[in-house]
Amino acid sequence: MDIKYNLKSSRRTEQFQPEGNVGFGNLRTDHMFLMDYRDGQWCDPRIEPYAPFEIAPGAISLHYGQSIFEGAKAFMHDDGEIYTFRLNKNAERLNTSADILCIPNLDEDKQLEAINALIDVDRLWFPMQDGACLYIRPFIFATEDRLSVSPSLNFTFCVILSPSGAYYADGVSKAIRLLISKKFHRAVSGGTGASKAAGNYAASLRAGQAAAEYGAAQVLYLDANNQQIEEVGAMNHFHVLKDGTVVIPTFTDTILKSITSQSMLELGHILGCEVRQETIMLDKFIADIEAGEIVEAGGFGTAAVVSPVGSYIFEDGRVVTVGDGEVGPSIKRIYQIFTELQNGQLEGPEGWVKRV
Ligand code: PLP
Ligand code: COI
Repeated sequence: MDIKYNLKSSRRTEQFQPEGNVGFGNLRTDHMFLMDYRDGQWCDPRIEPYAPFEIAPGAISLHYGQSIFEGAKAFMHDDGEIYTFRLNKNAERLNTSADILCIPNLDEDKQLEAINALIDVDRLWFPMQDGACLYIRPFIFATEDRLSVSPSLNFTFCVILSPSGAYYADGVSKAIRLLISKKFHRAVSGGTGASKAAGNYAASLRAGQAAAEYGAAQVLYLDANNQQIEEVGAMNHFHVLKDGTVVIPTFTDTILKSITSQSMLELGHILGCEVRQETIMLDKFIADIEAGEIVEAGGFGTAAVVSPVGSYIFEDGRVVTVGDGEVGPSIKRIYQIFTELQNGQLEGPEGWVKRV
């Protein structure tokens, strides 16, 4: 790709040494990558200073939500180089989302080239802190100025970077509560649940507010018949049996295929436990927690890696506590091993980490 560079004159000149933990998603680097789709092809790849862009007030993404995104991370290893983690899986999934939202695919190699070029330009923005990363946010949105409802003819692909701190300052130490909702649903079969469509997240906001009213961090969504466990708004769900086996709900077209979950499924030998998928029936899940068959539970996702769940609450106020409600040993071990793989302290499967 012939990328045009228009670099900011006041760009960072020294490695970023933040004082406190910079948190997740708050900061931006100096530049963004842009590429447009018009006349049936992706064109005009460029890196420009991070700045607001112009969009027509009638753009289809603003009215009808034809917009998708991805979330990935890059880490600095002990050699001082920056390495992306399974970025090819994100590029592949962006195209899966594109198919679901009638957006033209963008060649995966071009996506990877774009992201690598952007990280290279802004590498001094990598925050020098334990457990830090560059969070990578690629997205595509419809730009055609038209109010009738049909797929846009024009799009923009953009990548921004967010220097982010360790999600947990002292390892995974606090378990969250989830609201098991029979009222709110995230996805139905035949819908957009398996994509990272912007609208899926807009639709989860009201459920998130309801969760907060119950003292819960997020909603654990069920299928439309309120029988099976599906996933959390920004994480897949999992539980741990008393023999250490990790169980993740089987991927369906109502669940996002988490790259963290897929990685755990491939890592059983390194994690030292079986990791498998099953359809999880809500009634059995609750009975197994109460019988002590399920001893830990949590969520898998890029942002947090592993989020331990200490208890569930139902809309009738009933609370079910998992184990002793604290962070269990399996989750601590999984978090430790997974972050060591990302940070290059432990060697993972070939090709999972790639130097920028
Ligand atoms: N499920 C949903 C709905 C998500 O938004 C995310 C976050 O990307 C995940 C699961 C976890 O996926 P991943 O591990 O690829 O980040
Ligand atoms: C991620 O975990 O990377 C995500 O994309 C979740 C996001 C909605 C914060």
